Amino acid sequence: MNQQRNQTDSWMGLDGRVCVVTGAGSGIGAGTARELAALGASVALIDRDLETASAVAAAIRDSGGRAEAFKADVKSADDISTAAARIGDAIGPCHVLVNNAASVGYGGALLDGDMAAWSHTLDVNVTGALLCTRIFGRQMIEAGHGGSIVNVASICGRAPLPSGGAYSVSKAALVMLTRVLALELAEHGIRCNAVSPGLVHTTATEAAYSDSTVAQARRQIVPVGRIAEPVDLASVIAFLASDRSGYINGEDILTDGGFSHTLMTHVPQPAKPMRPR
Ligand SMILES: NC(=O)c1ccc[n+]([C@@H]2O[C@H](COP(=O)([O-])OP(=O)(O)OC[C@H]3O[C@@H](n4cnc5c(N)ncnc54)[C@H](O)[C@@H]3O)[C@@H](O)[C@H]2O)c1
Repeated sequence: MNQQRNQTDSWMGLDGRVCVVTGAGSGIGAGTARELAALGASVALIDRDLETASAVAAAIRDSGGRAEAFKADVKSADDISTAAARIGDAIGPCHVLVNNAASVGYGGALLDGDMAAWSHTLDVNVTGALLCTRIFGRQMIEAGHGGSIVNVASICGRAPLPSGGAYSVSKAALVMLTRVLALELAEHGIRCNAVSPGLVHTTATEAAYSDSTVAQARRQIVPVGRIAEPVDLASVIAFLASDRSGYINGEDILTDGGFSHTLMTHVPQPAKPMRPR
């Protein structure tokens, strides 16, 4: 088993790479930090909540990995610059940036929802990802070793979430930000891709999954028959972070167990099947 894991580690080529994960104190970010560390990376966990990020980093170190937590709000260029300088000094320049931190609160209907919530969601989910990319992208360019940026988008960037305020709009924008950055950064050897999760059991969605009726109803609408766990996303993110995905650039990898492809199952059909004509 260990031997298999070691072979995977070297196959992925992430050993010793400095990987920065935002929103790493919980959910998909924490799962991604654990996965990257298990693959040999040195992981910098950024979160606005230092306590949770420190606990995840400590657990990674306890199991033999390399990880350190840093407090920063991705909305703040000052916070991110300070964290980036500290990460550069303590661990080394960034190879991989995972823009995962997001505001996932629902801001209400667009006609009369709270405008402050609208702005906050766009500031964190879109501008925050851009700020981190500018600051850590500069580190990658100065180090001259290229890199990989992975943005955590959502199926809501493809399918509109009503009453979700700016959430769907922000995730659609994040996917386009990914594509523009993919073109602009390619000359520096930096790739930029996105992952779009479907339904994932995390702190953010705990209310849905602690209600057994809602949880069961949700499982039933996903073709693979289960709700994703953070590791389901973490393994896709690790692949995009690694050189194994070296020819993938500007893509958005839908990771939703097939849920997005169920549209035609909603179309009412006549009792007598229609025959080909
Ligand atoms: N859970 C799902 O079903 C789901 C589905 C699709 C997409 N996503 C996306 O996955 C990502 C992670 O979501 P999750 O479910 O793991 O959420 P989560 O709430 O479990 O974790 C989010 C983490 O981000 C941190 N964070 C939030 N705002 C921040 C900020 N401004 N600066 C720094 N850190 C901040 C939080 O403290 C928290 O630790 C998000 O981008 C979310 O939009 C989640």
